[in-house]
Amino acid sequence: MDPERADAATHETVLATVPPRPPAPPLVHLAEGLAYGGDYNPEQWPREVWDEDVRLMREAGVNLVNLGVFAWGTVETADGVRDWTWMDDAVDLLHRNGIGIDLATPTAAPPNWLLTAHPEIAPVLADGYREPAGGRNAWCPASPVYRHYALRHVEALAERYGRHPAVRLWHVGNELGGGNARCHCEHSAAAFRAWLERRHGGLEAVNAAWGTNQWGHRYGRWEEIMPPLGRHGAPNPSLFLDYERYCSDALLSHYLAEKAVLERHSDAPVTTNLMVGAGAQIVDYASWAPHTAIAANDHYTSVDDPLREQDLAFSGDRMRGMFADRRPWLLMESSTGGPSWQRRNRAKDPGEIVRHSLGHVARGADGIMFFQWRASAAGAEQFHSAMLPHSGTRSRIWREVRELGRHLSALAEVRGTAVAPARAAIVVDDAAGWALQHGLKPHRDLWYGRELREWHRALWERQILCDVVPADADLDGYDLVIAPTLLVVDEAAAERLCAVPERGGTLLITYLSGVCDRDSQVIAGGFPGAFRDVLGVWTDEFYPLQKGERVTLDGDVLNGAHAVEDWTERVHLAGTADGVSASAADGASADAEVVARYTSSSLAGGPAVTRRAVADGAAWYVSAPLPPEAVDAITLRLAAEARLERTAEAAPGLEAVRRTGPDRSYLFLLNHAETELDAAAEGLDLLTGAPVGPTVTVPAGGVRVLREQPNG
Ligand code: GAL
Repeated sequence: MDPERADAATHETVLATVPPRPPAPPLVHLAEGLAYGGDYNPEQWPREVWDEDVRLMREAGVNLVNLGVFAWGTVETADGVRDWTWMDDAVDLLHRNGIGIDLATPTAAPPNWLLTAHPEIAPVLADGYREPAGGRNAWCPASPVYRHYALRHVEALAERYGRHPAVRLWHVGNELGGGNARCHCEHSAAAFRAWLERRHGGLEAVNAAWGTNQWGHRYGRWEEIMPPLGRHGAPNPSLFLDYERYCSDALLSHYLAEKAVLERHSDAPVTTNLMVGAGAQIVDYASWAPHTAIAANDHYTSVDDPLREQDLAFSGDRMRGMFADRRPWLLMESSTGGPSWQRRNRAKDPGEIVRHSLGHVARGADGIMFFQWRASAAGAEQFHSAMLPHSGTRSRIWREVRELGRHLSALAEVRGTAVAPARAAIVVDDAAGWALQHGLKPHRDLWYGRELREWHRALWERQILCDVVPADADLDGYDLVIAPTLLVVDEAAAERLCAVPERGGTLLITYLSGVCDRDSQVIAGGFPGAFRDVLGVWTDEFYPLQKGERVTLDGDVLNGAHAVEDWTERVHLAGTADGVSASAADGASADAEVVARYTSSSLAGGPAVTRRAVADGAAWYVSAPLPPEAVDAITLRLAAEARLERTAEAAPGLEAVRRTGPDRSYLFLLNHAETELDAAAEGLDLLTGAPVGPTVTVPAGGVRVLREQPNG
């Protein structure tokens, strides 16, 4: 593309307006039953290998593959020169063998000729360094040149295969934002300014929202605003947060631009693979998901995670929480063994491929896909596990891949059913996570995922289902709502949360929630500003703890004494201040009850956990990161208060989740322990075909899936 024209393409056109959240699209079915397969990269292999590939795919029950994810440079071999031979051949081969295709736009990895001709499309990091070619996602989301070339190739791809009957789904790019979410080049700066103008209306409004009088950092002209640059500075937290939001929208706008091209040539549904887990994500996926025909996730467990299965459950609960109807989603990538991007890549234990995969299905996945079909002999990912490992069909992995294929086919009827409605929810918000983890904070080592995972764990271990929902979700159906470390909150979200106890529900808010408004400005009058009234407490000072420092607290509700690390607060009941009655002017009713107190440090004697009865409901405040035993004790109390039911009467260590269809329900029992465990349940075990119950024994590491109604 002519650089002159590229410059003329304004940031307005690059950053197409992100439309408001669309209504939920109709449900998408990708295969006859559950989808099964993985990334298929035939371009890495000689043609004769492909026949073996499809033969083995059929043997394993594979019915969908992700094709061409990184294939741009193997098709468009020079500027505008395309050779479709291998792709035509692969598409036809798969089609002849009844294997559906999730066809990827290969825009994650621009070809070398493009990066050489236009090095300026590569993203610029915060220190001003431009990412060199060689990696993936080496492109700036606001680059008009990149977008021009990407859309031109997507158009050619869609024209060629858009009506091909094998194409069941479109896969836009790959893990958008993985490596290029934060670009600091001049195009990004211009697009950021345009985004700010749309969000705030004008420069003065930006100055006000960001409080730029501090350090005299007022902006007199748009050109003075830059993305947060430099490694050691202390960016204005409001600027930082808006920049993160802009980055999310800029990538979404790229996704939408590709999607619009695809939809001009094809009726096949369009999606992109997200990376949903705990903590703040690269982009705000909850705002993206409604723009996908079926939400798709890539999930890999981490060696450092002592509770890998809970992490997996959390990601499933968060995927489901993105749609109000808890509709099924697709697991687009996972691994059959060790990945290759961790320092020490852990192999899966025998049985883990099946158990983990069915764990995703239990929480709403309508398909299980892996990276990748055949292990690569060459290239950066040559030691990544695959469905067909280097050792071939005599491997344990291959045996389990076939076993999983049989199980997924036995579970075909589960497709399209929703996970049973949860009555508990955990509120998660990327903006709150970004705000918590960046900039100068009272404590800079807090991980946003910590409290999210901890409260989820306590429910998960008790077989109590919860949805993990975004801050703008409707909370009306939930009897228990937990909002952990929701540092930044807008007024509407705060109102929805405060309404929970008013209508008889139980609300639990943890430390560092409701402290700042949507612009990341502190809400005056005592923490947690947005929730002070509903909680009936206020905090006048944070007491972050030093490494190794511990403070004790005690209370019946915690089942005794515990020590906390990292964070404590000086909390007061509304209407009091250091033992002195405060004026009634602070507004909140003084009826919160102290259910646990600090017993050491200068906070000794002060409230640590409080509960306020509100109408028929209750509002709890937890001012410190409680250890697991204390979280467990409170969770039991919350569950009793909100009258939550367990999914099944199952032994600890058994994960129990139910999916429900119009006339049947399916109970998934996953045994993560090393001994067999029992549950009280009854039905037809779809994996063995045998009726079971009233007590069901699940072998160590095993899975049972019962069709409960009608029995048999
Ligand atoms: C994912 C990526 C895949 C592959 C995989 C390896 O993040 O989308 O293409 O690289 O990691 O685990």
